[in-house]
This record gives sequence, structure tokens and C-alpha cells, in this order.
Amino acid sequence: MNTTLLETTAHALVTPGKGILAADESAGTCERRFTAVGVESTEENRRKYRQILVTSPAIRDRLSGIIFFEETLWQKTDDGRLFTDVLAENGVLPGIKLDQGLQDLPGFPGEKVSAGLDSLATRIEPFAKAGAKFAKWRSVIAIGEGIPTQTCIDANSYVLARYARICQEFDVVPIVEPEVLFDGTHTIERCEEVTANVYDSVFAAMSRYRVHLPGAVLKTGMVLPGKDSGAEMDHAAVAVATVRTLVRHVPKELGGVVFLSGGQTPKDAFTNLNRIAQLGPHPWGVTFSYSRGIQDPVLKTWAKNTADPTAASDIYARMLQIASDSRKGILDESMDIDAFVSRSQDL
Ligand code: G3H
Repeated sequence: MNTTLLETTAHALVTPGKGILAADESAGTCERRFTAVGVESTEENRRKYRQILVTSPAIRDRLSGIIFFEETLWQKTDDGRLFTDVLAENGVLPGIKLDQGLQDLPGFPGEKVSAGLDSLATRIEPFAKAGAKFAKWRSVIAIGEGIPTQTCIDANSYVLARYARICQEFDVVPIVEPEVLFDGTHTIERCEEVTANVYDSVFAAMSRYRVHLPGAVLKTGMVLPGKDSGAEMDHAAVAVATVRTLVRHVPKELGGVVFLSGGQTPKDAFTNLNRIAQLGPHPWGVTFSYSRGIQDPVLKTWAKNTADPTAASDIYARMLQIASDSRKGILDESMDIDAFVSRSQDL
């Protein structure tokens, strides 16, 4: 394990002004998202769509990394260049999703544990050889009546910690993602309590399994009131609660912290990130690792005319600009991002 290389990669992922695009939707997730916009989810259609995400000149100054799903790591542009080579030319690191989805946790209704750990040590090698410099593994923690249980939190923490240490053996930086779900009717206070408990459990497990923290990155949701709680999104309160929970429960030596968008509207996801950035400097580089928050308008725009990617590519460049501004804490909050996003989809 090359700790210097791991630390350099982790540091690069949270470079000021840049962030990560999560483009690692599994075949099943792609099927749902493509079907919703009326495009068939064939391997070729997924390649064509993701080519837009990889070849935009905007990635050079706005992205530190892109997370791929397995098939994408070996895909090529129309003119025969590997996607990974295009990223390298732009100084953007390729990453790979390594979990194999979620399974029910028997005996714990409504709770899940992430799958794929048993085969990980053999699965990771070809990805590392193909150039993946970092990886992502997602677990989910749901909030509801009587959940999450400590058993569910600990089971997922164990899996995340073992995954992280296996990645580091291959000099691949693990992004450790224990996502506390936005769905539910809970208060922001309850989200903070659960998130704090999850961080404590995950970092205790990472310490037990000897994960090199400066060579690892946390991917987390923000501390939010439940999507169906009826509470207003108070951006200042979200930023304060999110930063407070991170500072109190995440070790300072960790390599970085990145956020998922988690089903927030683009306006909320970027305004909250902007406010979080304004509360810095933080002990770690803190940035975005959004999928839906960036991609939703791009996919919907592309679906309107899959033969011509120009409009989708323009929207993508605008979304990356918004993401980068938010990461720097200089987002123009008077801009109606949600209106811009829905206008762009009408193009
Ligand atoms: O693992 C979660 C995804 O990479 C982030 O997706 O931004 O749509 O929540 P999201």
C-alpha cells in the first residue's frame, strides 16, 4: 500500500474549485432513468450519453474525478479514444463503483446492507489495472419508525471499512458512502442524531480495520429535514447542522469530504453546498459528488434529441459551472436554478 500515492489522490479529489461527477449508475438504475425520459437503455445508448459527460471541455476546470460503472471504464468515444484517456488528458481522475447494490437485512424490516464484499478482492484488480484511481461504495441508512437499528448501522460500517482497506491494498482511494436517506418525515434534529451515530460507527470500524484515513474520502448526505416532513428547506440551518456534525464526528486526518445530492432539487443541493463552503475553511477539502443534481437536466435535454448532443452538452457545462461556484461559496443565489433547469429541459 503506497500511502503517499493514496494521500495525493485523495487530496486531488477535493481540489479547490473542483468536484466529482457521479456517473456510476448501475444498469438497473440507468434502465429506470432512461425509460423515464423515453430512451432505451442499451449499452450503446449509455455510451453515447456518457460520452457527453466525458468529452465536454468544461470538465477540465470543474471536475477532479468522474465515477464510472463497470462497463464505462472500457468504453470509447466515437473516434475511438478510451474514456479514461480523455479524462487523463483533462487532468480528471477515473473512479469505479464497487458495491453490488443493496440487500435486505434479514430480521430487520426496512433496512438494507450493501453487497459485493466477498468477491471484492478479486473484482478490484482489473479496474485498478484499467486505471481506476479511486472507488465508491454506497450503503444506505433509512430513518423511520424504530429505524435505523444499531445492528444495521454496524453491519454497514463493517462492510464499508473492509471495502476501504481492500481498495487501499491496490492503491485505490476508497470513497466511503454511508448515505442517510432523505426520504421520510423526520426532523432535521433526528437526521443530525442519526448521521452523527453513523459517522461514529463508520470511523470506529475504519480504525479497527486499519484504514489509512488520509488516503480515504467520506461521501455523505447533508443534514436535512425529511423530504416528506413538510419542513421548509432552511439553507443556513442545513449548512450549520451539516458542518457541526462533520466537525464533531469525522476525524480531522481524513483525506476529504464529498456530498451526494440525494434527491434534493438542484437549487437546494447547490445552495446548501454554497452555504457549507461559506462556513469554511473546514478541516478537509469539502466538495460535491452529485449524480442527479448535475445530470438530471443533461439527460432530459439529451433525450429530446439523442442524435445531437449540443444542447445537452451546453446544459452540462452550465451545471458544472454552478457546481464549481457552489463549491467555492460564490454561487449567485438569486439565480433561479430550478427554473433554469426546467427551461433547459424544454429546449
Ligand atoms: O451514491 C450516490 C450517488 O453517487 C449520488 O447520487 O447525487 O443523485 O444522490 P445523487
